[in-house]
Amino acid sequence: MASYFNEERSAEIVNERMGRDINPRFREIMSSLVRHLHDFAKEVELTQEEWEFAIDFLTKTGQICSEERQEFILLSDVLGFSMLVDAINNRRPAGATENTVFGPFHVAGAPERTMGDNISLDGKGESCLFIGRVIDLNGAPISGAKIDVWSDNADGFYDVQQPNIQPKWNNRGIFTTGADGRYEFKGIKPVSYPIPDDGPVGQMLEHIGRHPYRPAHTHFLVTAPGFQKLVTHTFVGDDDYIESDTVFGVKQSLVAPFAHTPEGPTEWVSKFDFVLAPTHP
Ligand code: BEZ
Ligand code: FE
Repeated sequence: MASYFNEERSAEIVNERMGRDINPRFREIMSSLVRHLHDFAKEVELTQEEWEFAIDFLTKTGQICSEERQEFILLSDVLGFSMLVDAINNRRPAGATENTVFGPFHVAGAPERTMGDNISLDGKGESCLFIGRVIDLNGAPISGAKIDVWSDNADGFYDVQQPNIQPKWNNRGIFTTGADGRYEFKGIKPVSYPIPDDGPVGQMLEHIGRHPYRPAHTHFLVTAPGFQKLVTHTFVGDDDYIESDTVFGVKQSLVAPFAHTPEGPTEWVSKFDFVLAPTHP
C-alpha cells in the first residue's frame, strides 16, 4: 500500500516509516506521541495560525532557558505534567510520605547543620521550629537519614533568586538523624510566592485565566540507605492558594500543622514525621 500522506491515516503513515531495528521502548513512546499529537490536531481542527502561534510559543520557551532558568520544566509543572510523571513513578505503600514536585530552587551541597540550628540567616519572617522523626513503615526510627531542606524567605524569594540581597544558603541546610530518627531545626513559617512568570509560561497562565502562585511550603529531600528517595514539601494549610497551587503540588497528607506558640522560643511549631518506603519491599 502506498504510504503517501493522507489525513485519515496520518499518524499510522508517519509511524510506519520508523526503522525496524530501533529501541523498542523508543518505538513505543514515539509512536504513541505521534498518535496523540495527530488526534489532538484533528480533535480541535487546528488552524494554520494556531499552529504558528504554538511554534512561536515553544521557540520563546526555549530561548528564555539558561543555566538558571528552565522554562520547559516550568511549562510541564503548570500543565500538571510534572506531578503526573511524579505520581506514576512514586507509587508508595499506604502510610509512606507522598512525593511532590522537586522545583527549580534546590541547590546541591547545602551546608551540613547540627540539630537545632537556625537556617534563616536574614532574620526576616515568623520564626518556626520544625520537629519530627524519620521513620519506616513500622514506625521504627531511621538513623543516618539526610534531610535536605530549603524554603523561600519572608519576602517570597529563594536565596538564589536574590544573590545580592540574601545571605548565601539562606533557609537551607542538611540535617542527619541519629539513632532516634529525630530532627529539629529552626527556620521560618514559609510564605506563598509566584513562580517565575515574566516569560512565555507566565503569559500562558494569564491567557488561560490562572494565577502563578504556590501556597506556602517548605521543601524536603529525605534520603537514607535502603529507602526510596523522598522529594516532598510540607504545606501551610490556611494559605490562600492551598487549593489552587499553580503546579498542582499539594496533597492532603502533606498539609502540616503549624501551632502558634507566641510565648515559646519560636512563634510557630510545625511537627511532621517523614515515613520512608523501603527500596525493596
Ligand atoms: C518550587 O516550589 O520551588 C517550584 C516548583 C515548581 C515550579 C516553580 C517553583
Ligand atoms: Fe518552592
